[in-house]
Amino acid sequence: MISIEVCVGSSCHLKGAHDVIEAFNNEIKNHALKDEVFLTGAFCLGQCLNGVTIKIDGELILDVTPTKVSEIFQNRVLDVLGV
Ligand code: FES
Repeated sequence: MISIEVCVGSSCHLKGAHDVIEAFNNEIKNHALKDEVFLTGAFCLGQCLNGVTIKIDGELILDVTPTKVSEIFQNRVLDVLGV
């Protein structure tokens, strides 16, 4: 199980955290990985200036936008799961 936390603190919220969550949700649905990937919101991850901030299996990834989600998903989820 891979865990993806998307910061929904006020700064990341303003920078579009909701759209990032939606983009991850779409990837999970499109690849039928709902049982392999746990997507959740997180409180401020301490990198507000560089948001949207996410954490995948404990590793911070900064400056995430919806357009970057598919590449991140490929590298950090699909490649790791070997699908
Ligand atoms: S609000 Fe997202 S890192 Fe602080």
